[in-house]
Amino acid sequence: MKQFEWTANYATGMREIDSQHAYLFALTNRLMRSAAQGAEPVSLDQAVNDLVSYADRHFSYEESVMEQAGYEHLAEHKLQHRRMRKQLDEFVRGLSNNSVTLSELTSFLQDWLTLHILREDMQYIPAVRRLTGEKP
Ligand SMILES: [Fe+2]
Repeated sequence: MKQFEWTANYATGMREIDSQHAYLFALTNRLMRSAAQGAEPVSLDQAVNDLVSYADRHFSYEESVMEQAGYEHLAEHKLQHRRMRKQLDEFVRGLSNNSVTLSELTSFLQDWLTLHILREDMQYIPAVRRLTGEKP
């Protein structure tokens, strides 16, 4: 099975953001591995819960950073996070009644994370850099 790993292609250059993104990749990868190895449902549930709660933490962190930086598209970006969380909740519900599979969830996570980082997160970086003076 192909690993899902954070690479320099996804680097925003902001250390904390990058390490949080890398951890989201790692949690997704753990879920893929557990599913492939036929892990017990209880440990799969745990892996899903860990991912959901870490996504919440990460989104709050990102939103506070964007807010401090006065990022002009904050409202839109927050909306994307909310939409993603709604989808994630639907997947979790679907898993519990077997209407979706774990691999559908992990594909969603891979697509969402990669596209969101490249298309959306990269956009707020200049605003944050202006504020912190952090160099790329
Ligand atoms: Fe984001």
